[in-house]
Amino acid sequence: MVAVKLENVCKYFGDFKALDNVSFEIKEGEIIGFLGPNGAGKTTTMRIITCFMEQTSGNVSVYGFNNLTQQDEIKRIIGYLPEQPPLYPELSVEEYLYFVAQVKEVPKEKLKKRVDEVIELVGLSEKRNFLISHLSKGYKQRVGIAQAIIHEPKLLILDEPTIGLDPIQIIEVRELIKSLSTVEKRTIILSTHILQEVNSVCQRAIIINRGKIVNDIPIVFSDKRYYVVKVNRDVEGLSLANVSDLSVSGNFIKFSVESEKDLENVVKNLFDMGVIPIEITPISTEIEKVFVNSVYS
Ligand SMILES: Nc1ncnc2c1ncn2[C@@H]1O[C@H](COP(=O)(O)OP(=O)(O)OP(=O)(O)O)[C@@H](O)[C@H]1O
Ligand SMILES: [Mg+2]
Repeated sequence: MVAVKLENVCKYFGDFKALDNVSFEIKEGEIIGFLGPNGAGKTTTMRIITCFMEQTSGNVSVYGFNNLTQQDEIKRIIGYLPEQPPLYPELSVEEYLYFVAQVKEVPKEKLKKRVDEVIELVGLSEKRNFLISHLSKGYKQRVGIAQAIIHEPKLLILDEPTIGLDPIQIIEVRELIKSLSTVEKRTIILSTHILQEVNSVCQRAIIINRGKIVNDIPIVFSDKRYYVVKVNRDVEGLSLANVSDLSVSGNFIKFSVESEKDLENVVKNLFDMGVIPIEITPISTEIEKVFVNSVYS
């Protein structure tokens, strides 16, 4: 089943072309990273899919519904976390979620069960009676995600869900997003300019730059880490255990390993050979290379 389909979508703001012939297809159940630098057109695309904005030309459908003529149908099956979630600071977490659930037409008899379920799912149990204005940014973001999933949407659209969070909160929110795709099976599109986010959460990355789709690639889950080791002298005919992608150029050795332990062994082996590592630099993963090549070439 196709969840989202865009065909030759263009969006002008006055004379400015913010989206230029954007086409892609997302299948039900996929987790997509929508990746691009500032101003690339991520939010604009998401607003069009969620019926908050209309395209200038081209076709958009969500689970077969047309975004210009069947907005009510689409809004019912979409959950949206905008860049600035619409929170009511003077309400408690629970009051707010009851309010949103009613607006989104969660049936009366299911209301309490669903609010409880979602509070539990996003990890807000201890904060359910807190005023939203008293929550930290990370918890507010969870409330934002909770409001997006309260009506059990098939498609979840998250615009920069981890922006402004601290490193621990980022990990927690990423885990939460992953669990939303497994515990409550749904199609997820998340926009981000953080490559690592795509690597750790998504199955596929669609890369946009200056309003154009410049790449669309599967993310291969891999724990491989790439390194460049600068050593004290030129080396030739080097062989190292438990490394792949080995290449040597002068006093630089490039390779990948599966674990930190393997890296330690490489360093030991080099010492044993009388080759002294001076500098070890982790290098970019595959997605970083693709991103840099597609956006800055
Ligand atoms: N309502 C608007 N009126 C005029 N220009 C707009 C409007 N909304 C967006 N734009 C322009 O369209 C382009 C794409 O903006 P968009 O917000 O979609 O980018 P983005 O990829 O979400 O960027 P960011 O990472 O900064 O959130 C930008 O140049 C922006 O200035
Ligand atoms: Mg944006």
